[in-house]
Amino acid sequence: MSGTERDPVGSAVDAEPADAHVVSVHTPDEVVLVVDFGAQYAQLIARRVREARVYSEIVPHTITAEEIAGRAPAAIILSGGPKSVHVEGAPDLDPGIYDLGIPILGICYGSQLIAQQLGGTVARGGSGEYGRTVMHITQEAAGGSASPDSSAAPATAGGLLDGLPSNQTVWMSHFDAITEAPEGFRATASSDGAPVAVLEDPQRRIWGVQFHPEVHHTPHGQDVIERFLHDLAGCSAEWTMANFVDDAVADIRAQVGAGRAICGLSGGVDSAVAAALVHRAIGAQLTCVFVDTGLMRKDEGEQVVETFRRHQGIELIHERAADRFFERLAGITDPEEKRKAIGELFIRVFEDAKGGVADAAYLVQGTLYPDVIESGTAHASTIKSHHNVGGLPDDLDFELVEPLRTLFKDEVRAVGLELGLPEEIVWRQPFPGPGLGVRIIGEVTPDKVALLQEADAVVREELHIAGMDREIWQAFAVLADIRTVGVQGDERTYGYPIIVRAVTSEDAMTADWARIPYEVLETISSRIINEVPGVNRVAYDITSKPPGTIEWE
Ligand code: XMP
Repeated sequence: MSGTERDPVGSAVDAEPADAHVVSVHTPDEVVLVVDFGAQYAQLIARRVREARVYSEIVPHTITAEEIAGRAPAAIILSGGPKSVHVEGAPDLDPGIYDLGIPILGICYGSQLIAQQLGGTVARGGSGEYGRTVMHITQEAAGGSASPDSSAAPATAGGLLDGLPSNQTVWMSHFDAITEAPEGFRATASSDGAPVAVLEDPQRRIWGVQFHPEVHHTPHGQDVIERFLHDLAGCSAEWTMANFVDDAVADIRAQVGAGRAICGLSGGVDSAVAAALVHRAIGAQLTCVFVDTGLMRKDEGEQVVETFRRHQGIELIHERAADRFFERLAGITDPEEKRKAIGELFIRVFEDAKGGVADAAYLVQGTLYPDVIESGTAHASTIKSHHNVGGLPDDLDFELVEPLRTLFKDEVRAVGLELGLPEEIVWRQPFPGPGLGVRIIGEVTPDKVALLQEADAVVREELHIAGMDREIWQAFAVLADIRTVGVQGDERTYGYPIIVRAVTSEDAMTADWARIPYEVLETISSRIINEVPGVNRVAYDITSKPPGTIEWE
């Protein structure tokens, strides 16, 4: 699962095999399969394919020609990988796949594998190439050579690099290099460390690139991917979120029929979009349950109720459980103990609430594609049904409805906007399930929560005014469990320090502290001290992850 959506209430929730419940989920007819050769490469490629408006799925490299033929994909992309094709046990591909007539694009390791498996030569070692590299088009795919003087290669039918500059920057990351293309292939580009940087066989419909078109450091990378998908493989580019919504609505209706469904809302993007989508499909047959722990950010509870009940017209059970949570948290200071207490109580409150919808047979979950592909690979046997509503136990007797199971986060946001959810919800930053409970160091009390909510609101407001909220992954205030001496007016004060934490990140696995301009920090600091009684000092956390974590507890 992805680091961002770690069990929302922080309790350890066992994932379970997908076939434990029937899950209907929309997948379009036209699919591109991204064969995963390891590391994190395949997910990025799959996202770029979707950006080209073609639906993609990640499959393990152990997939057989027969399985591929069964899926009848519009194209296949072989990902990069960390191994050398020469080491023992290096992942390879069922050679029968090359004979299926399905267009194939190999990237980096994928390209080397094509060369090796089809009779070319991959030289071991050498100095390799890492980082930005200039690549030259040496030959048109269909014959003749590109003029080194021309700024664009002449267009030929079937050339992967048609329309691209003769010399261009690409991102390389390889040790071995293809030195000889297999018979029937043409080598159409090279770089200093990659004599065969691009290989093409339009007859067999197989192409390979040594560079990484999926990373932003390759300026024409997306062009190459789109040229392959749209022009060479003939994909129709119909994967849009508007189409997705229409299809998903039909699928949800088919699954739920006249049944009743419930959905736990956490205030986060995923459950919000899942609820709105299911509501569009089955209307009043859906009831949402919002467990208000009292540990959310300022005004967030009201915003959830306002958005879903009033604007979306969804039937909503609002469980005001703050008192129960504070009572349960009294005296607890250990972070993991807090998580456990919050997680357990959350389940109890949810179960009490769902009693109000006794006939519900379906549970809506906001599971996303990265939750499904564990460690980057969708091995059929390891597909999990990740519970990200609120750490709900496995023995809840429901059939799952997981309409976002095929989507990446950016697609979920686009669906949310498509469904008319407000930007504040669609662009909400990740928020831990235990909420402010893990941002108050030491014992959690209602007073401390109120104080932290005010300080946190200032942080978020000022970053919004500075136009920085989208570039920052998470920004928030932390209340320390110490007091410090200060002076305000003529008086000595003895108050709490607030720590401001703001990080940039791609996936929460690693993070860097955000370079917020001093002026913005200054405004945040003086506003918090002036507006939040009991706080007399503001510190900015400049720790990256690792060695720090994003949260303080
Ligand atoms: P850390 O602090 O481990 O956080 O760097 C990584 C990401 O996970 C979020 N987080 C949690 N999410 N339950 C959650 O649902 C939790 O107990 C929890 N703890 C941390 C954190 O906000 C960040 O996005």
